[in-house]
Amino acid sequence: MRVAARMEGENSITVVSDSPEDTMKLGFELGRFFKGGEVLFLQGPLGSGKTTLVKGLAKGLGVLRDVTSPSFVLEKMYTGRTTLRHIDLYRLDPSEAAEFWHSLETGPKDVLAVEWGERIGDLTPGRIRVDMEYCEDPNARKMTISWDNPSQGQAIRKAIERWLEGTSK
Ligand SMILES: Nc1ncnc2c1ncn2[C@@H]1O[C@H](COP(=O)(O)OP(=O)(O)OP(=O)(O)O)[C@@H](O)[C@H]1O
Ligand SMILES: [Mg+2]
Repeated sequence: MRVAARMEGENSITVVSDSPEDTMKLGFELGRFFKGGEVLFLQGPLGSGKTTLVKGLAKGLGVLRDVTSPSFVLEKMYTGRTTLRHIDLYRLDPSEAAEFWHSLETGPKDVLAVEWGERIGDLTPGRIRVDMEYCEDPNARKMTISWDNPSQGQAIRKAIERWLEGTSK
């Protein structure tokens, strides 16, 4: 495996995952470094790897059950070190998505992973965003992670360091 490409900004990092397993591992490391209360918006076209990342995230949060796409049920909940709420807004139009989002009651330690988060607008305070894109290599995905909460940014940087150590060997 090659070392993932990386571009750093103050509040974002761009990396390239070389395989679905690589994406799951990145999710896993993120989950391990999350403290609870993180809100992750996963954005990118169909098949770009959003659910794949959440499968790893769940493992990193200590969830034992397998994660499957919630697109038909809007939300699936999993218990690990904290509660993981996996939400998929694909089937909702923007006004339905906004209504669903505002009616959601969440605990302070819940981790939210929201696919098609763009249905309810851009980065708002405290939210982490992952933009996923296809690459020329059909097994690669470019992922840009952005945040505005510095302590969450620190956790994300540490998780990516761990992930790069694993993927570069
Ligand atoms: N580097 C990669 N990372 C993630 N998935 C990859 C990668 N390379 C290939 N794939 C494939 O792309 C697909 C990603 O599917 P996944 O369900 O995670 O996408 P999604 O973004 O959740 O799609 P949807 O918008 O339909 O919910 C899988 O078939 C996976 O095997
Ligand atoms: Mg999905």
